[in-house]
Amino acid sequence: MAQRLRLTVPAKVNLHLQVLGRRPDGYHELRTLFQSVDLFDELEATGTSGGELVLEVEPPGWVTSDTDNLVLRAARALRERSGITSGARLVLRKRIPVGGGMGGGSADAAAALVLLNRLWRAGLEAVDLFELGAGLGSDVPFFLCGGLALGVGRGDEVYGLRDFPELGVLVCLPAVSVSTATVYESLDKELTWRQVNATVYGFSAGLASEPAWDRMTNDLQAVVVRQWPQIGRLLHRLEQQHPLRAAVTGSGAAVFAVFSGRDEAERAASAIDPAEVVHVGCTLARDRAALLMLKPGGEEWEQPRAGSQYDQRSD
Ligand code: C5P
Repeated sequence: MAQRLRLTVPAKVNLHLQVLGRRPDGYHELRTLFQSVDLFDELEATGTSGGELVLEVEPPGWVTSDTDNLVLRAARALRERSGITSGARLVLRKRIPVGGGMGGGSADAAAALVLLNRLWRAGLEAVDLFELGAGLGSDVPFFLCGGLALGVGRGDEVYGLRDFPELGVLVCLPAVSVSTATVYESLDKELTWRQVNATVYGFSAGLASEPAWDRMTNDLQAVVVRQWPQIGRLLHRLEQQHPLRAAVTGSGAAVFAVFSGRDEAERAASAIDPAEVVHVGCTLARDRAALLMLKPGGEEWEQPRAGSQYDQRSD
């Protein structure tokens, strides 16, 4: 009887993103505030007796299903670390926009680590999954943590913060393709480590019980908007809807606006071209978003409390 497990993983936006400077390893030192939002990808894994790893993506072609897919890279990394030789058939149902700065690929990688660690009873601890995740991509560790979190280093060192009250979120995506590496390269030309002095604002913006919206920035935004004016125009449209905050997420191309409630987000969405609206919803607190409820030791991974988030079946 093949065991089948299913896990949903929510997207993120960067409420705040400061780039302090370029590091010797070529990455950039960040201070960022990640926030989970209720837009989910779903990953299903069925154990197989052979050692093969097969991935199917729905809708087909949204992202590659070949060996480069982060889900398969995560699966191989997990096998190497744990010495497990089991296989799995994986189905990835994409809802999070690709190339939007909402962390879709990283979310899928984090989901694969958690799901397969459980399916294969590989027994890796949270600390191992964080380390494997960081090796797969800078944003992957955040998805293990979820909710509101501070990211430092490459963004891979995450600290869960006390969640803000639930907020309405509107996410829009213009039809442009943005390269994260190019955005960082353009920023390098104007970047100085002077900005390090401002980091204290980023920290306090996230640590306060009330979000300090006026202190939040995204240092990549000016570069993105200059290079892709359509993104700037969409952002301007969002700003006209009087949100608490509107910004590019990560390096774009998605822009988001945060409102005090879902109704306000829905009202604002009606003023935007429906072709560009990808999501109207709300922020997710850690207890609904964390792939790992950190409970080190043993195999008693506590399931996320959303109920529907983690499904287990036997065929
Ligand atoms: O870590 P990840 O593969 O997601 O990063 C994608 C690209 O984004 C990197 O190749 C790099 O150009 C840029 N990046 C960066 N500094 C970071 C995170 C990402 O320069 N902290």
